[in-house]
Amino acid sequence: MNTHYLFLIMAILIPMISFSQEKNIRLPEPDRTGGIPLMKAMQERSSTRTFSTDPIELQQLSNLCWSAWGINRSEAGKRTVPSSHNFQEMDLYVVLPEAVYVYDAINNQLVFYAEGDLRHYCGTQDFVAKAPVNFMYVANLQKRGLKLPEEINDGSLLSSWANAGFMAQNVYLSCASQGLGTVIRAMIDRDRFHLELKLSPMQRVILGQTIGFQGK
Ligand SMILES: Cc1cc2nc3c(=O)[nH]c(=O)nc-3n(C[C@H](O)[C@H](O)[C@H](O)COP(=O)(O)O)c2cc1C
Repeated sequence: MNTHYLFLIMAILIPMISFSQEKNIRLPEPDRTGGIPLMKAMQERSSTRTFSTDPIELQQLSNLCWSAWGINRSEAGKRTVPSSHNFQEMDLYVVLPEAVYVYDAINNQLVFYAEGDLRHYCGTQDFVAKAPVNFMYVANLQKRGLKLPEEINDGSLLSSWANAGFMAQNVYLSCASQGLGTVIRAMIDRDRFHLELKLSPMQRVILGQTIGFQGK
């Protein structure tokens, strides 16, 4: 390739890459030793559907991401939740009022994914678009070894539903510990979310979970 073209392409690409990196959110270290006793967290666990619009703290968000899908054994790359055959096929989409991010557990950051307020695609209930945080549990079946969308069926998704359940329960307990409200949700227009968030044909939306301070 002509070196002039190469420089031109680099001059365009490099600022684009650093611009998108600037939009990432670096999370504070999760607080791995704090929180209320486990038995008390289980006692407090409950679903709420009334949320304040107040944002939660970044530290709380970090704790929640780590609870849902963080790495707790870095030498083995293993997580706070189990996954069948350790396929780790889940992606955690973090939908905030200003943008959508994907949780990057290795680098403890939220990687920018899409601009704008897309909360209304996260679920069919009214509170979903008003609460400050929605976690969307998305399976990438390619990570389970499938190659084509036609190979995806209810059987191949069974484990992903179980995985999402583990993630959600950790988030329930973390919310109970941090004084936050939450509810796990299956009522999602999955095709719409898939389309609007431009997910790949090998991804499937499993469950959503709304999080925020309890409203009145
Ligand atoms: C798989 C699953 C799907 C659920 N889907 C929804 C939902 O779409 N919307 C909702 O408001 N609650 C949903 N829930 C929450 C349940 O309604 C709630 O857990 C139940 O009423 C018991 O209340 P508790 O969580 O406070 O004990 C779901 C729970 C589970 C386990």
